[in-house]
Amino acid sequence: MNDFLLTVLRNERVADGIYEMTLSRPEGVQPKGAQFLHIELKDGGRILRRPFCVCDCEGEEITVCYALVGAGTRELASYKPGEKLKVLLPLGNGWDADAFERPVLLGGGMGSAVLPLVARLAKKARPTAYLGFADKGKAVLTERMSALCPTVVCTDNGSLGRKGYVTEILARDVREGKVRPDAIFCCGPEIIYKLLAKEPAFADIPVFVSLEKRMGCGVGACLVCTCGVRTKEGEKNLRVCADGSVFDLREVIL
Ligand SMILES: Cc1cc2nc3c(=O)[nH]c(=O)nc-3n(C[C@H](O)[C@H](O)[C@H](O)COP(=O)(O)OP(=O)(O)OC[C@H]3O[C@@H](n4cnc5c(N)ncnc54)[C@H](O)[C@@H]3O)c2cc1C
Ligand code: FES
Repeated sequence: MNDFLLTVLRNERVADGIYEMTLSRPEGVQPKGAQFLHIELKDGGRILRRPFCVCDCEGEEITVCYALVGAGTRELASYKPGEKLKVLLPLGNGWDADAFERPVLLGGGMGSAVLPLVARLAKKARPTAYLGFADKGKAVLTERMSALCPTVVCTDNGSLGRKGYVTEILARDVREGKVRPDAIFCCGPEIIYKLLAKEPAFADIPVFVSLEKRMGCGVGACLVCTCGVRTKEGEKNLRVCADGSVFDLREVIL
C-alpha cells in the first residue's frame, strides 16, 4: 500500500445522485477484487479521508463509483479532469473469486460498486452476478457487469429487470436449481447480510461479505472501524480496514 498522487481523468454523473470517477492508475499497482482506496479531499477542513472500493481497474485506469452522501462526496463530485488527488491504495484484504468454481456476486445498491473488479479478475471461476436496486434511476454498473459475466438485474419496483428484492430472487433461483453457487460474495446494506444469514436456501453455501464502517486512518491504527467477529479463540473486535473489509458472514456479529 502506498500514497499516490493520481490524476482525475473523468468524473461524471451516471445515475440519480451517483457518480463515476476515473483516476490514473499508478504503475505496477494491481488491486485485488474488493480492496478499497482512501481519498484525501482538497478542502483541508475535511481532515478524514473518504474510503471507496476499487470498482474497476483496467489498463491505465482505476474507477470509483460513489453516491452523493454528504459534504465530502459532494466535494468529490466537483473535481474536474486534470486535478490531482492523494489516494492511499490498495487497502483491505480483498476477495478472490478464483478460490471457487461458481461464485455468485451479489450487490445491493451502491454495494454493486465492488463487483466489476472481482468479476474481471476471475480467470478460472465462472461467476454470476445479481444486482439489486430500489428502482431504475438508482441502477448503476449494469452494463459494465453484463460485459464481464452473466448478470441478473433486479429492482424493488420492477422498473428494470426482475421485480423484487435481490436476496429473494437469488434464493428462488437457488431453490429452483437455476444457479448453483459454491460461494456467495455480497456487498450491500447490512439488512441484506441479515437476510442472507437467515435464508435457508443459502444454509450450505459459504457467504462472504464486505463490511462498511466509518473509518479514520484506513490502515489499522486508530481502531475507529471495529466490528465483532466470532473466532476460534472466542469473540473479538477486528478492524474492518485492516482485518477486512471482507469477512465470513457466519462469523460476523451483526
Ligand atoms: C471500505 C469502504 C468502501 C466503500 N466504498 C464505497 C463505494 O464504492 N461507493 C460509495 O458510494 N460509498 C462507499 N463507501 C461509503 C463512503 O465512504 C461514504 O459514503 C463517504 O465516506 C461519505 O462521505 P461524505 O463526506 O460525503 O459523507 P458524510 O456523512 O458527511 O461523512 C462524514 C464522515 O463520515 C464518514 N462516513 C460517512 N458515511 C460513511 C460510510 N458509509 N462508510 C464509511 N465512512 C463513512 C466519512 O468518511 C466522513 O469521515 C465505502 C465505505 C467503506 C468503509
Ligand atoms: S480506520 Fe483506523 S483502524 Fe480502521
